[in-house]
Amino acid sequence: MTNRRETRILPTHTPQLFEAAVKEGVELLRAGEVVAIPTETVYGLAANALNPKAVARIYEIKGRPAHNPIICHVADRALAHRCVTDWPNVAERLAKSFWPGPLTLVLPRASIIPDMVTAGGSTVGIRWPSHPFTQAVIRACDFPLAAPSANLSNQLSPTSAAHVRKQLDGRIPLIVDGGECNVGIESTVVDISVLPPRLLRPGMIHEESLLAVTGELKIGSADGELRSPGLLKKHYSPQARMAVRDWKNEAALNELSVRLGFAQRRTCVIAHASVPGAGEWLRVAVVPHDAEAYARALYAELHQCDELGANGIIVEQLPDAPEWRALADRLQRASA
Ligand code: TXA
Ligand code: MG
Repeated sequence: MTNRRETRILPTHTPQLFEAAVKEGVELLRAGEVVAIPTETVYGLAANALNPKAVARIYEIKGRPAHNPIICHVADRALAHRCVTDWPNVAERLAKSFWPGPLTLVLPRASIIPDMVTAGGSTVGIRWPSHPFTQAVIRACDFPLAAPSANLSNQLSPTSAAHVRKQLDGRIPLIVDGGECNVGIESTVVDISVLPPRLLRPGMIHEESLLAVTGELKIGSADGELRSPGLLKKHYSPQARMAVRDWKNEAALNELSVRLGFAQRRTCVIAHASVPGAGEWLRVAVVPHDAEAYARALYAELHQCDELGANGIIVEQLPDAPEWRALADRLQRASA
C-alpha cells in the first residue's frame, strides 16, 4: 500500500512559474521521489531511471506488473548514448528525423540502466520528448527519467494534469501542469535492437513515415507480445463498455445501441463524420475529422465518459488510412 500524501499541482504558464516548477520537480526527482510531468504524448509518471528504488515506486503507485518495462526519457543525444551499448546507423537516422518527438527507440541497454527499468530484459526504450518543461527538468537532473504514462495500470492515459489528479491524487507529491498534451496518444515504439526493425506500438509517427527512414519494418514483436504489454489485446480502457461501429444515420445508430444493449441515457457517442442529434444520449461528442486533431481530443473525451458515469460508449469507426491507424489500434484495445 502507498501511504496517502498531499499532492500539489504546479502551473507553468509564466516563465517564473515554469522555473519554480522545474526547481521543485528536480529537487524531488533527485531525492528519489516520483513526479507526474507533462509530455507532448501523454503525462508521464517520472523517477530517476538510474535509481532502482525510485523506479520501484513507479510500479507500486501504478499497480504495474513487474514484467512491463519502462521507457527512459532523455533531452539530448549524449544522454541517449549513455543508456545504450549500441547506436546503430538506423538509430541515428530515426533520431534525426523524429526527435525530439513521439518516437521511442528500443536498443540494447547499458549497464547503468537497472533491471527495474527494463523488467530484466536486455533492451531499453529511449525517448526524447519535445515538451519544454520535461526537457528542462531532464537537462537539470542530468539523468534519464523513467516514465510510463501517469495512470493506474490498464486505465486511460492522462492528457491533462486534471486527468492525472483523478487517478493519482494522494499517491504522489507533485503533478506539474504543462497544459493539454499536443499529440494526445502514446509514442510509437520501434525495436531497433533487431533487424529488420519492428514496430511494437503504433503511434502518430506512423508506419509509412518510419519505413521512409528504415527501408524495412516488421509489425509486432518477434518474441511474443508479453515483452510489450502496451500491445496486449485489452489496454488503455475507460470504465464503460465500448463499441466501435459505423452507422448510416440516426435511426441506424439508435438500432445499434439497442442491439448492443446500451441504454441511450447511459451511453456516450463519439462521432467525427456522421453526427447524430443530442436525442436521449448521455452525451454526443464531436471530434474533428482530422487524425492529429482527433488524437489530441480522444482521451479527454473518454475521460469525460468515465466522469459522467457512462455504461456504454459508441465510437464511430475511423477511416482506413495510415494516419488513423494508431488511433484505430487504441480504440480496438479500449473496446476489447
Ligand atoms: O508516449 C509515451 O511513450 C508515454 C510518455 C510518458 O513518454 N509513455 C508511455 O509509457 O506510454 P508506458 O509505460 O505506458 O508504455 C510504454 C510501452 C509499453 O507497452 C512497454 O511494454 C513498451 O513501451 N516498452 C518499454 N520498454 C520496452 C522495451 N525495452 N522493449 C519492448 N517494449 C518496451
Ligand atoms: Mg501506459
